[in-house]
Amino acid sequence: MKNIVLIGFMGTGKSSVGKILSEKLGFKFIDVDEVIEKTTGMKISEIFSRFGEPRFRDIESEVINLITKKDSQVIATGGGVVLREENMKKLKENGVIFCLKASENVIFERVKGCKDRPLLQVENPEERIKELLNRRKPLYEKADFCIDTEGLTPEQVAEKIIERL
Ligand code: S3P
Repeated sequence: MKNIVLIGFMGTGKSSVGKILSEKLGFKFIDVDEVIEKTTGMKISEIFSRFGEPRFRDIESEVINLITKKDSQVIATGGGVVLREENMKKLKENGVIFCLKASENVIFERVKGCKDRPLLQVENPEERIKELLNRRKPLYEKADFCIDTEGLTPEQVAEKIIERL
């Protein structure tokens, strides 16, 4: 079977939903950020601070290239995977793409205090979230399906995805 790919902004629950979904379907679970941290031996924030965002995006694309060679996996991507068209092309080739959505407020509540999201380590993270969301909205809408996660548990979101398969 094709891969099931989860895209969406930081804090929309891609990793927690992905884990549950993979257990329900008996698929392997791949968390792209985890693969990046394991293969580089660095935290995402360290990669950003030592080498910058463009290098992080290159590593992210290398990982996407590798993992899309296999199928029957649930893949939780990082929120910025949509920034490169080549990533989306690879993911679409053998995957069904689901975008998880949540409002700015819910996202802010979920991510505040998290130290390993370098793009949000700014004076006004709320404003940053709004700005990034606006910029990325058209990119997230390239998904095959969009799922509104508001008020749902990760388990319920996983069920909603299964209904659409
Ligand atoms: C990013 C999202 C993060 C991580 C990195 C960049 C982004 O992943 O890949 O900090 O650009 O939105 P999560 O969406 O899992 O937080």
